[in-house]
Amino acid sequence: KRHLLEAADLDRADATLVLDTAAQIDQALAGREVKKLPTLRGRTVVNLFYEDSTRTRISFELAAKRLSADVLNFSAKGSSVSKGESLKDTALTLEAMGSDAIVVRHSASGAPHRLANWVRGSVVNAGDGTHEHPTQALLDAYTIRHRLGRLEGVRVAVVGDVLHSRVARSNVRLLHTLGAEVTLVAPPTLLPVGVGSWPAEVSYDLDAVLPKADVVMMLRVQAERMNASYFPSAREYSRRYGLDARRVGALGDDAIVMHPGPMIRGMEIAAEVADSVRSTIVEQVGNGVSVRMAVLYLLLGGAPQ
Ligand code: CP
Repeated sequence: KRHLLEAADLDRADATLVLDTAAQIDQALAGREVKKLPTLRGRTVVNLFYEDSTRTRISFELAAKRLSADVLNFSAKGSSVSKGESLKDTALTLEAMGSDAIVVRHSASGAPHRLANWVRGSVVNAGDGTHEHPTQALLDAYTIRHRLGRLEGVRVAVVGDVLHSRVARSNVRLLHTLGAEVTLVAPPTLLPVGVGSWPAEVSYDLDAVLPKADVVMMLRVQAERMNASYFPSAREYSRRYGLDARRVGALGDDAIVMHPGPMIRGMEIAAEVADSVRSTIVEQVGNGVSVRMAVLYLLLGGAPQ
C-alpha cells in the first residue's frame, strides 16, 4: 500500500501488521539510550498541517526522526497559503523539494484523498475535517490490545460528540475490522444521519452501557464545529454524558477509560477520572509515536508491498 487515507484502507491483516510492527519497534527501542533506527535514512517526511495539533504533529515528527528520516514541518499559518496558494500547489512545491511522504491534516473532509491523486509519494491522513483520523484509531487499538491483551470481542463504548468526530469514524471502522464490538453513546443531536449503517450499536443512555463496557472512549465536545441550536448546555451535557467518579464506579474491575485528547476536564470527563489508574490517556500519546513509526516504516521503508 502507498497511502493511509482512512481506516477502511486496512483489512484485518494490514491492521494487525501495523500493531505488531509497532510492538516490535517498542521492543527494539526499550531500554536504549539512543531511541533511533536507521530505516528511513535519506527519506524526507513532510508534516503538512492546515489545522492546529499538539499530539499528532509532534508524534509524527518524532516518529520520522526516530526512523532517521529528514522532517519538514509545514504549518499553513505563516506560509504562502495566506497569499492564496492552493493545497495542490503547496504539495507539488514540497514534492519538488524531495518529499517522499506527506502527513496531512486539513479542515476539509477528503483533502488527503485529493492530495493522493496529485503527488507521487505517500500520503498519510492526520485528520481531515469530520471524516477520519486513521492513525488515532490505530494507536487506540494498540493501547486496548496492550492493556487488555486482545481486541476480538472487546466491548467499546464511544461516548459523546460522534457527529463531529473523525476519531469516532476511524475507530468504529478499525475496531470492527479487528473484531471488537462498538456501542456509540450520544444525544440524538450529536449523532450523524446514517449512523444506523455504521458497524456499531447506538444508545442514548450512558448509565445503561457502562456496566457492560470493557473500554470507555470519551470524545471531546467540538464546540468550534457546533451550532448552539443542537447543543443543549455544557451543564446538561456533562450531567447526562460526562464521565465522573460515580459513573466510573459502574465499570467492571478491568475496564479502561480512553480519550484521544485534547480533553476538556470537567465537561466530557472529570479531572479525577482522567488522572485515575483506569485512564490510558497519557499511554495513548506515547503509543502514538510507536504506531506512527510503524505506519511510516511500512509505507516507506521496510515491509513487502
Ligand atoms: N488526538 C489528536 O488528534 O490530538 P491533536 O489535535 O493534538 O493532534
